[in-house]
Order: sequence, then C-alpha cells, then structure tokens
Amino acid sequence: MERKVAPKRSDNKKRRKQSQFDYMEVYRQLRTNIEYSSFNKDIKVVNITSSNPAEGKSSVASNLAMVAVAKYKKVLLIDCDLRKPVQHKIFKASNKLGVSNLMKNMNELDIDNEAYFHKFKDSSSEGKLYLLTSGKAVPNPQELLASERFKEMIDRFREKFDYIVIDCPPLNAVADAVPVSSIADGTVFVTSARDTDKRDAKNALTMLQRSGANVLGCVLTKVDTTNRSYYSYYGNYE
Ligand SMILES: Nc1ncnc2c1ncn2[C@@H]1O[C@H](COP(=O)(O)OP(=O)(O)O)[C@@H](O)[C@H]1O
Ligand SMILES: [Mg+2]
Repeated sequence: MERKVAPKRSDNKKRRKQSQFDYMEVYRQLRTNIEYSSFNKDIKVVNITSSNPAEGKSSVASNLAMVAVAKYKKVLLIDCDLRKPVQHKIFKASNKLGVSNLMKNMNELDIDNEAYFHKFKDSSSEGKLYLLTSGKAVPNPQELLASERFKEMIDRFREKFDYIVIDCPPLNAVADAVPVSSIADGTVFVTSARDTDKRDAKNALTMLQRSGANVLGCVLTKVDTTNRSYYSYYGNYE
C-alpha cells in the first residue's frame, strides 16, 4: 500500500504546514519520553486515550506509530475505537476486516495477511508500519475489549511486533478503554488545551488509576502555536 505523506486532518492542515518540522520532531520527543517514562519495564504496548471525543487521540496515535518506525522494526497501530473508528480514514485503508473480525478467527492470525494487516511500503514507513483497523461494527465493544481473547490477541502481537500503539475511545462516555489500558504497558492521556474540562480529565484519570493502568503522562494538544510548541508532553500527569 502506498502512502506518501503524514496523515493530516482537515481543519489544521495550514497550521501543520507552517510547522511541519517541529511537528514531527515533537512526536519523536514523545516517543523518546515514552521510552524513558518507565525504568521498571520496557514499554512495548502503548494505548492512547482521553476523557472526551475530539481531543486528538487518533491523531496522536497515528503520528506516534509513524515516528516509531525509525526506532522499531515492526510497528503495529490498532484502532480499538470500535464505536468511532478513524484510522482507516486517516490511512485510506479498507475497514472490511479488522479487530472484531480477527477476534472471531484467531487461528488465522497471520501478520502477512494484508486483508487484515495493512502494510505501508512508502519511504516514510519503510515497510515497517502495519495497521489493524477496527473491523466490522459490533453491538458490544466493551465486552469484546474486556475479553480474555482480546488480551490473548495482544499477547500474540507482542511476539510478532516490536512496538504497538492502540487508539482508544474516550473514557467518560464509555469504559471501553479501561481494560485496554490495563493490558497495555503504558497509557498516554491526551488533553486538549482548547476543549478539555479539568473535572472530566480528573474523573478519567481516576478511573484509569483505579483499574491499575500505568499512566505514563499527558499529551496536550490544540495548543495556541503562536508562541508555544505544537504539542506538549507532561511526564507527571498530576
Ligand atoms: N494538535 C491538534 N491541533 C489542532 N487540531 C487537532 C489536533 N489534533 C487533532 N486535531 C483535530 O481535532 C479533531 C479530532 O481529532 P482526533 O485525533 O480524531 O480526536 P479523537 O481521537 O480524540 O476523537 C480532528 O478534526 C483533528 O484534525
Ligand atoms: Mg479517535
């Protein structure tokens, strides 16, 4: 599959063009910060969540996966927002088969099967980036993501990939991201300078802490870029 440019979202195209270099550099910093955020264990599986919709989770997830290829041999981006999936749109990939379908056919798990695993061969992805989209819509995403089989699937991916980024839904609407955060080695919490309500963020973080998630830090998106960097990362999320 060919994809030549970094994924861009419509309403901030212009802004990104102005600071294209800084913007990828900040993602490289994010990747490094994640690596160094925990000395007790290696962070291989990272999930991205936030309190509410449209705070920038999917953008952070896709860009983090893209910069991860410079460091890791095989990188997998998984769209686990089964209610509002967007990664297939960002990467212009089919969403006919994905997480939900694979869960039904675990014995067919083969990362070279391009019907499931979209492999990007363009120069920026260097053939190292794989995308598993959300797949067929299911009536019970929470049950699916909390299931033993989902955990099993992630464990199988751990053997096959060097770095895994999981795009999750927001925490305040539905609890889908809670079990995913417990399975991941670390959770990145996204807040938007423009949209996030402090109480909502606090509630969501409390929920994560109670479930035993390893919250690595916060990414602050939608910052006014006139005199600050495009994204900020705070290691100490409190
Ligand atoms: N750092 C950012 N600055 C400005 N706009 C952003 C930023 N990150 C995302 N957006 C825009 O916000 C909207 C929601 O982004 P998305 O990543 O899909 O959020 P979420 O996954 O949290 O719902 C999109 O239109 C996207 O272009
Ligand atoms: Mg999203």
